[in-house]
Amino acid sequence: MRSSHHPFPTRHAKPAGSSIQKSTLSKHESKRASDAQTIQIIAVLGCGTMGHGIAQMAAAAGFRVIMRDVEKDALVRAVQSIERNLEKGAKLGKLTEDECDMALQRLRGTVHLSETAEADLFIEAAPEVLEIKQNILREVETLAHKSFIFASNTSSLSITEIARASRHPERVVGMHFFNPVHIMRLLEIVRGKDTSAETVDAVRSVGLRMKKEPIIVKDAPGFASSRLGVALGLEAMRMLEQGVASARDIDTAMELGYNHPMGPLRLTDLVGLDVRLKIAEYLHTTLSSETFRPPEILRRMVSEGKLGKKTGEGFYKWNEEQ
Ligand SMILES: NC(=O)c1ccc[n+]([C@@H]2O[C@H](COP(=O)([O-])OP(=O)(O)OC[C@H]3O[C@@H](n4cnc5c(N)ncnc54)[C@H](O)[C@@H]3O)[C@@H](O)[C@H]2O)c1
Repeated sequence: MRSSHHPFPTRHAKPAGSSIQKSTLSKHESKRASDAQTIQIIAVLGCGTMGHGIAQMAAAAGFRVIMRDVEKDALVRAVQSIERNLEKGAKLGKLTEDECDMALQRLRGTVHLSETAEADLFIEAAPEVLEIKQNILREVETLAHKSFIFASNTSSLSITEIARASRHPERVVGMHFFNPVHIMRLLEIVRGKDTSAETVDAVRSVGLRMKKEPIIVKDAPGFASSRLGVALGLEAMRMLEQGVASARDIDTAMELGYNHPMGPLRLTDLVGLDVRLKIAEYLHTTLSSETFRPPEILRRMVSEGKLGKKTGEGFYKWNEEQ
């Protein structure tokens, strides 16, 4: 890439012709949520494994993106990963150098939530804990403009439950992206009990612009994807515990025997064992099903800090290049 752009913590100038001006906002506020075209600025709240990928795809799709994390180091890592991914994309001919530079210029990072106030759409990708997500939503509501939309990237938590923290539950929705976000095409849109059709339409349009294939699902524990994916992953761990086969051979069974692009244990390493454990605990309780009881091996590895790719070791050993 030609320019070395550093998306934070500097202030970002509004691009010429931007229609997001406070004065016009108030005139059109009531219309905003129902008009997907008016989503121009996206705030990504939490920039770890998922957040940085969501930010990258949103910026590449032409949205202005404000990345917010409570940890400055997480923002530094997020920017490095985005730069690396875009460079790889350019080498593979998926986008031009100019497109990479433009995407980077649309991004900025901050540790201050107040700097996200102008966003039209907030996509939360913070840890999988209901209280954390509800607190973020409460905070957003104190500073966002009146027709904001709040989307959670939760893998399993109830959107209806998260929305209980809001005075506008019709504007709360699930936008469940998959890891790695710049590669996986699925976007699971989760409609909470009170989510409006306009909100679903708006995030669907955003997803399409981000080159995702949206599906729309009811707010049920684990939605359509996590419930099946986590069941498979937990069974693979129990098989490993019982010595049925090595991690590699269990994964190979699914890859070559069932044409899965990646085996369930390698996938768990990419997702993060801690993330998977939280989802399993939640599904075990909400669905009252033994299928989702977290295996001992998962609890042990999480307590030992073997969280998968992000810590360098999970069911496999990982290095920076992988
Ligand atoms: N990891 C996956 O493969 C995957 C896939 C789909 C969905 N998800 C979901 O996405 C969400 C994030 O998962 P992840 O794997 O990216 O987690 P992660 O631990 O990699 O990143 C979470 C980030 O949120 C930050 N954070 C914590 N509190 C915050 C706050 N109040 N405001 C802003 N940032 C805050 C942390 O500093 C961290 O950088 C979870 O709900 C998870 O279930 C994860």
